[in-house]
Amino acid sequence: MRRANDFASIRKWDNEHVVHPWEGMASIGENDRTFAESADGIYVTTETGKTLIDGPAGMWCVQVGYGNTEIADAMADQARDMAYFSPFNNANSVPAKLAHEIARRTPGDLNHVFFTTGGSTAIDTALRFVQFRNNVRGQPDKKIILSRQKAYHGSTYLAASVSGKERDKGWLDQAQDLAYFLPNVNPSIRPAGQSVEAFLDEKLADLENAILEIGPDRVAAFVAEPILASGGVIVPPKGYHKRCLEVCHRHDVLYISDEVVTGWGRLGHWFASEEVFDIVPDIITTAKGLTSGYVPLGACILSDALIDSVSGSKSREATFSNGYTYSGHPVAAAAALKNIEILEREQILEHVQTVSPYFQERLHALRHHAIVTDTRGMGLVGCVECSVASDGQQLEVDRDIGTRIDRHCQDLGLIVRPIINMCVFSPPLIISLDQIDKMFDIMDESIKRVTQELCTTGSS
Ligand SMILES: Cc1ncc(COP(=O)(O)O)c(C=O)c1O
Repeated sequence: MRRANDFASIRKWDNEHVVHPWEGMASIGENDRTFAESADGIYVTTETGKTLIDGPAGMWCVQVGYGNTEIADAMADQARDMAYFSPFNNANSVPAKLAHEIARRTPGDLNHVFFTTGGSTAIDTALRFVQFRNNVRGQPDKKIILSRQKAYHGSTYLAASVSGKERDKGWLDQAQDLAYFLPNVNPSIRPAGQSVEAFLDEKLADLENAILEIGPDRVAAFVAEPILASGGVIVPPKGYHKRCLEVCHRHDVLYISDEVVTGWGRLGHWFASEEVFDIVPDIITTAKGLTSGYVPLGACILSDALIDSVSGSKSREATFSNGYTYSGHPVAAAAALKNIEILEREQILEHVQTVSPYFQERLHALRHHAIVTDTRGMGLVGCVECSVASDGQQLEVDRDIGTRIDRHCQDLGLIVRPIINMCVFSPPLIISLDQIDKMFDIMDESIKRVTQELCTTGSS
């Protein structure tokens, strides 16, 4: 491993040459980022040799933990045997095997796998397929995509256009005519006195009214994360997805379930759509945990019914001209196959089902802090939301509470993902009960320290 003093020049190169995701342009070139240089299990080690629990598992993706030599070996073996082969006109056995393993685990007739380079390109592929299908079916005006406030579906042009996080929209163009955003489905923000059931009815009415107002002949699909992840771990009321799917299908609107975060065990199942939310969508998009983050890979999984509707005699000789040089990259597919084998053999989905109630219990116990206004989660995903305002409104001072908590957590041995006044975490799925305790003990202490900073002195 590199010594800490090597990092003077590395930090300089990072600042001089690397443009990071969500780069704040006011401070570009002047950042003091933490570098992680090695990792094992749920822990990462920084350039100073400090070991931290990786609370967000990278970006919700390192399911089987770091340092898994079986996955590393599978990738190395594949690179030696056949590093790459064009997927355009020919094929390779490894992505074929992977598509078969994925199709065995998807609900219903979701059996056609289009490999992509990540989650954004999986969403782009889903949206382009929906557009393609309606063109082939002679419905070129049926193109509007319904999405939701706080949704995140990615960073390519189409995926960003159907993402509903307001703060991300300020300075970048979007395909304005493509998307229509439904209101926030977070039951915690419902007006005082409104029951969760009434809130749910209202959200369903929002969806159906939007379809009717725009016109079912113009609405192509509804895209939804089962739980809205980076929008702040928003868990819609029970029954929401099932009823949404019924509304969609009543009006010939396709349902795209974005399982980029919720797939591959995050909620204790291969996919959450059917096992957790009782729906069989028309399309599932996935990425991240498919390879446990060891190498980029995503997939857009289409139902047989969708493929049937535009194939053979119904195809009008059309080609779905969408694809990537690295669609079904053999090395990525080898990593995914080994990852699936490990998830199954080590019974990691069962482990998630066993430990997640305790994880959720410890998460919700954080509510005893005066600045914690909400805790939300499911499976091994959690979010703690804070405000120093007594009425739960967001104040200017609240804006960097997440960063403050993250700073204290890092001092104490934990990385969390700060998002404005929230911290989200989704640890590697192999986390033990003791490690869950350690994680929440650190969170608890960090929130206590931030409370003291904010409430006693008003600043850090
Ligand atoms: C639900 C969801 N969809 C899509 C994406 C985009 O995936 P990627 O960053 O791999 O392009 C993300 C990324 O966080 C996501 O959370």
